Amino acid sequence: MKFKIDEIVSVLAGEIAGFEDRLAVTQVGKVIEVGDGIAHIYGLRQAMAGEMLAFPNNVFGQVFNLEEETVGAVIFDDYTAIKEGDLVHSTGQLLSTPVGPELLGRVVDPLGEPIDGGPAIPTTQRRKIDVIAPGIADRQPVKEPLQTGIKAIDAMIPIGRGQRELIIGDRKTGKTAIAIDTIINQKKFFGTPEEVICVYVAIGQKESTVAGVVDVLRRYGAMDYTIVVNAGAADAAPMQYIAPYAGCAMAEHFMWQGKATLCVYDDLSKQAQAYRQLSLLLRRPPGREAYPGDVFYLHSRLLERACKLSNENGGGSLTALPVIETQEGEVAAYIPTNVISITDGQIYLEPDLFFAGIRPAINVGISVSRVGGSAQIKAMKHKKVAASLRLDLAAYRALEAFTQIGTELDQATQKQLDRGARMVEALKQPQYQPMDVVDQVAVIYAGTQGFLDTVAMGDVARWEKEFVEYFNASGAAARSELARTRELTPPLEARLVEVIRHFSNVTTLNKKTVEGIDLKPLDEAVQQLRTARS
Ligand SMILES: Nc1ncnc2c1ncn2[C@@H]1O[C@H](COP(=O)(O)OP(=O)(O)OP(=O)(O)O)[C@@H](O)[C@H]1O
Ligand SMILES: [Mg+2]
Repeated sequence: MKFKIDEIVSVLAGEIAGFEDRLAVTQVGKVIEVGDGIAHIYGLRQAMAGEMLAFPNNVFGQVFNLEEETVGAVIFDDYTAIKEGDLVHSTGQLLSTPVGPELLGRVVDPLGEPIDGGPAIPTTQRRKIDVIAPGIADRQPVKEPLQTGIKAIDAMIPIGRGQRELIIGDRKTGKTAIAIDTIINQKKFFGTPEEVICVYVAIGQKESTVAGVVDVLRRYGAMDYTIVVNAGAADAAPMQYIAPYAGCAMAEHFMWQGKATLCVYDDLSKQAQAYRQLSLLLRRPPGREAYPGDVFYLHSRLLERACKLSNENGGGSLTALPVIETQEGEVAAYIPTNVISITDGQIYLEPDLFFAGIRPAINVGISVSRVGGSAQIKAMKHKKVAASLRLDLAAYRALEAFTQIGTELDQATQKQLDRGARMVEALKQPQYQPMDVVDQVAVIYAGTQGFLDTVAMGDVARWEKEFVEYFNASGAAARSELARTRELTPPLEARLVEVIRHFSNVTTLNKKTVEGIDLKPLDEAVQQLRTARS
């Protein structure tokens, strides 16, 4: 057989030209150390920060630290399935999660896998879990209300769609309850243009607690428009760390379709602890309270993603309700101060109020919403409804504090105290009973205008319940007018007063007789007591 030299040379030249100087070794690394949900990997020189890694046995991880010779990675699934010497493949993809309407009604882990015992979820789309928030030009100011159905909040700490409002308080003060009631209150908007898609992210909670929440949401028909993302206390720290971003991505999918969404992160203290654990294991330098230096960025890049998109972008919104747990009311600790500074206001819950039976246990004095006011409906902002409610309650508390030291009270002051006490009573609200904003306006109006003064303290809750029923039945004409216009015009106010008067006549709950004493302004009463004492 005769060789043609030219042919051989051209074949070899072709091979040489086609040779790529990219060794596969850069795409495959080797585990050199593994434990506690993290791994050190040798190789993977071209790995990106945040890149998804494929370990053997279908275990996934993510690049966390890029070091000179090695890569530090977190492992999402069972890390005990991985051993030293295992090969790791980089995927070239940043970490993403499945998104889409198929997830509604389901309980999933942060990687979108169902954990509710239901069938596989046939999603077709994915979103990166960690993305840069929309810029200023892509947004518009918050302008529509996100009704929580909780009187004290909708009246005094109103939340707007696209806002970030922190729920903060000690253990067992009703933080989760506020978030869950807010989700339940969206039920009546489901299927209307005011619909809100909800994502509840549970981080580091007991399985039984989360199961309880899911059960409640199911019972109130709220799972139809809700996704629950759970990374429990028993799950690996990396799962707890990424859970809020994954939940946010699932909500963003709807937001970019022009829908209103609500994301609850319950709670970010536990996420910060999981992040601290990972960071310390990967030997990042500890800072204040042993958190790594970038823990602020952990929460800011998450909460920045809450926004109201501009009309050109479809006008969707993502409202964030992060939850933070404090230790003995210590709001000045590291994580609470960080998150307070990132959000647009906070709802502060107090054990003292909770145990005194004031539930929701909101301390109105130091709770605030910095942007939601512009989104509040006009009727609620009316000067006889909620406009002065916060100041009146503050003055009431000051007055009450004075009377505890046994100062003699004149009748007018006593009456003022009675009214304040009834207002506090009227703002109490049981769980799972969100109230329509129109009914809230009527109830608060009745309180501030003295229609509750004649009701015995213990009867206020019943009065309120029966009044709302009456307002919806016999007062339906005025009520639907108010629901339509959302403004308490003088003629409408007169009709509302008429409904309240009628109800006061028919109800058996007006036990006390009215005395013909004019109320003096609260601040005047406080001033008078001050002078009396000094
Ligand atoms: N408005 C309310 N009226 C009556 N009970 C309430 C109210 N809000 C909360 N509770 C009750 O108070 C308890 C604590 O509430 P919740 O679990 O919401 O608090 P939390 O602050 O989220 O607690 P944790 O620190 O465990 O997360 C629960 O038993 C709940 O049913
Ligand atoms: Mg809770």
